[in-house]
Amino acid sequence: MSLPEPGFQEIETTLRALSTELELEELFHFSFEKKHFQLSLELPQVDDALVLTVLTTAKRHIENWRIHTFEQGYISIQALNESLFSSEGILDQIKIRLSGLYGEKKLEITRKGSLSAAELSLIITLVRTLTKKRAGTGLLEQLAENGCTVYPSGFSFREEELAGYTEIKKEITESILLPLSNPDVLAGIARGTRVVAGQSKPKAVLFTGPPGVGKTSMAGYIASKAGLPLVYIPLENILSAYFGESSKRLAAIFDLAASAPEQRLVLFIDEIDSLGLSRNDKIFETTRRMLSVLLRKLDGLESNTSNIIIGATNRMEDLDAALLSRFDSIVHFPLPDKKDIVEILARFAKQLTTPETVELADLFLGQPPRALRDICARAERIAAREIIEGKLIAGSLPTKEHYQAAFSRRIM
Ligand SMILES: Nc1ncnc2c1ncn2[C@@H]1O[C@H](COP(=O)(O)OP(=O)(O)OP(=O)(O)O)[C@@H](O)[C@H]1O
Ligand SMILES: [Mg+2]
Repeated sequence: MSLPEPGFQEIETTLRALSTELELEELFHFSFEKKHFQLSLELPQVDDALVLTVLTTAKRHIENWRIHTFEQGYISIQALNESLFSSEGILDQIKIRLSGLYGEKKLEITRKGSLSAAELSLIITLVRTLTKKRAGTGLLEQLAENGCTVYPSGFSFREEELAGYTEIKKEITESILLPLSNPDVLAGIARGTRVVAGQSKPKAVLFTGPPGVGKTSMAGYIASKAGLPLVYIPLENILSAYFGESSKRLAAIFDLAASAPEQRLVLFIDEIDSLGLSRNDKIFETTRRMLSVLLRKLDGLESNTSNIIIGATNRMEDLDAALLSRFDSIVHFPLPDKKDIVEILARFAKQLTTPETVELADLFLGQPPRALRDICARAERIAAREIIEGKLIAGSLPTKEHYQAAFSRRIM
């Protein structure tokens, strides 16, 4: 006895419900065009164990299959007719293709015509089995699977990446680090001051300033000081790599991040201005949708106040006004002043005397730290070349003049 065949409507409703239940909206697609059923499910990884799972699951639902295995991590199986010896219409049967090749990791199921009850049940079981693994993996792994770069807590941040900028570090310590490390103190004050309970802890902070002044580095500094994982959300990448689905992907990242309140995170959205600049219509539509997701998610932060979001931009004037208003504080990173430059040089050119670095600082005024770092590296290469050419004795270190030369070459 077999189950009644499900109708198209029933199949669609069932699979849609499954997709919602497992929160697979953006990894799971199916269509029923011209009576041709197609489904694809993106997988975090395809390995031999997974291949075996697919085979045994398929076998449990439908007796006879033929198998093609071309390369490791690739398998294609196709159901046979009831009679093993009849090859008529064999290509019409349900086909499952699992591939881990060329970076694409997918389960694809096709069927010419409608699905039988056994086939639908096979699909449901497969999707459930293959996605169970995902739910089992840790939050950070899932964020990484969704395109974020994740630095687990305890990663070390080299202090020399952020010399000088004492004022900014002080401001960041007071307004971000202290509340982040002592949430109870702030909550206690808020209980005493407010009629309606609320949070005074910053939830979203925007870093602005010209290129190369340490905005990205500061996010690493904060996460490392607070002992929290840093989750880097690459908007540009999400925009280009998940065309048409980028807004869903972004929403998924925020939902994941909020899904485990006990796991606090520093979420860093770099180049947040990439959501406001494009003029091309299609891209514009995509960025507009991403922007609206971001606006919503920044609003919804109330639900998980344990995370802190840091946005960074070097074009604040291009930021959407609504987005700007979502940040509860803005930290502006200026170009380094003379004192900062002296401190940065003390890290990258420690052999120089203080009067020498002070003199160089005058010359380098107006340069961002990234450029200073590069000038120092260039001075080292110039000195190395002179040693190799015999102009400088072995073991010499670059002098003030080398740094001046490196600087003038830079602007040539
Ligand atoms: N205060 C600093 N002291 C020493 N080095 C610094 C400092 N700030 C930045 N740097 C150097 O410059 C590099 C670039 O800094 P960072 O990427 O943080 O700049 P940014 O402000 O994010 O720039 P962009 O706007 O281009 O993204 C760092 O990797 C680091 O080597
Ligand atoms: Mg940056």
